[in-house]
Amino acid sequence: MAGVVQYTEFGGPEVLEFVEVATPEPGDGEVLLEVRAAGVNPIDAKLRAGLRASTPITTPRRVGSDASGVVAAVGPGVEGWAVGDEVIASGVRGAYATHAIVAASGLTRKPTAISWAQAAALGVPAGTAYQSLKSLGVGQGTTLLVHAASGAVGQAAVQFARAWGATVIGTAGPANQDRLRQLGAIPVEYGPGLAERVRAIAPQGVDRVLDAAGTDEAIAASLELVADPQQVGTIVRGADAPGWGIRAWSGGSATPLTAEEKAWRHEAVGVAAELAARGAFDIEIARSLPLEQAAEAHRLLAGGKVRGKIVLLP
Ligand SMILES: NC(=O)c1ccc[n+]([C@@H]2O[C@H](COP(=O)([O-])OP(=O)(O)OC[C@H]3O[C@@H](n4cnc5c(N)ncnc54)[C@H](OP(=O)(O)O)[C@@H]3O)[C@@H](O)[C@H]2O)c1
Repeated sequence: MAGVVQYTEFGGPEVLEFVEVATPEPGDGEVLLEVRAAGVNPIDAKLRAGLRASTPITTPRRVGSDASGVVAAVGPGVEGWAVGDEVIASGVRGAYATHAIVAASGLTRKPTAISWAQAAALGVPAGTAYQSLKSLGVGQGTTLLVHAASGAVGQAAVQFARAWGATVIGTAGPANQDRLRQLGAIPVEYGPGLAERVRAIAPQGVDRVLDAAGTDEAIAASLELVADPQQVGTIVRGADAPGWGIRAWSGGSATPLTAEEKAWRHEAVGVAAELAARGAFDIEIARSLPLEQAAEAHRLLAGGKVRGKIVLLP
């Protein structure tokens, strides 16, 4: 048997239930993953609450797309993966589980030097950060502003951008300014006067902006600080982005990711995992909860007070 977290109606964290089901079998191009840890992402909660476009619920819906674990069975047509392989799995449909079916194309080898929790924390945050920065053309000499730099996506973005030779200014709350300094960013507090504070650091404005906050304040400050709105990309205000002339990747955007953008998101997982294994990329884990406490994990996430990833352990 397998244990899975599911919901049968949109709603608050309380709609999440832990149930037992028959252990699934992998189909063509798929593997069965014995999950060791599942990453909790804001998108999981947005989908659960019905805040992102999705089809009506006709059968119980599983939760979570990021996991780490051990390959327990291999379906037909899978090459390069074998039972016993330790992997990071992205794009899982139901990562909050003891066992999950995963497309082999979503697997990345897990370095032994990183923990199961860290491995499960990488997929969405590192993938999104890496792809957004590549799409924006961030590199050596770029001055980049990252909104919500203390979040999971933000911390990954700061670290990639610094590794690529960019100067990074990051916004965070007062309690997280030191964390940004540790990661090599110049911290600023969000709140009224944000654009002026950034301009005091970068008098000419900034070259690129990654918005992982999605507040009106972050968008307004961004537009004030760049020469061209196309130098700003949001991962939160996708639906509103065309009205401001800024770029967007998912986050409610009507424009799907390109094949290249999807490939970058996948590539990021291996890149970040290898950097982390060498001590050159920090994956901050805030809390590890038992799988059965998925609802509590979503409450903690909604509280907004936890810095670092929340992971569920089967
Ligand atoms: N489009 C995509 O593909 C995609 C992918 C991943 C995530 N996202 C979205 O991106 C956002 C961030 O995700 P995450 O996983 O990094 O979240 P997270 O780890 O929960 O971090 C949330 C961040 O928001 C910051 N924040 C809170 N209030 C703020 C404000 N008023 N102004 C500026 N920043 C504020 C927090 O800063 P302090 O704690 O320092 O206050 C924290 O850094 C979420 O909305 C998520 O759904 C989109």
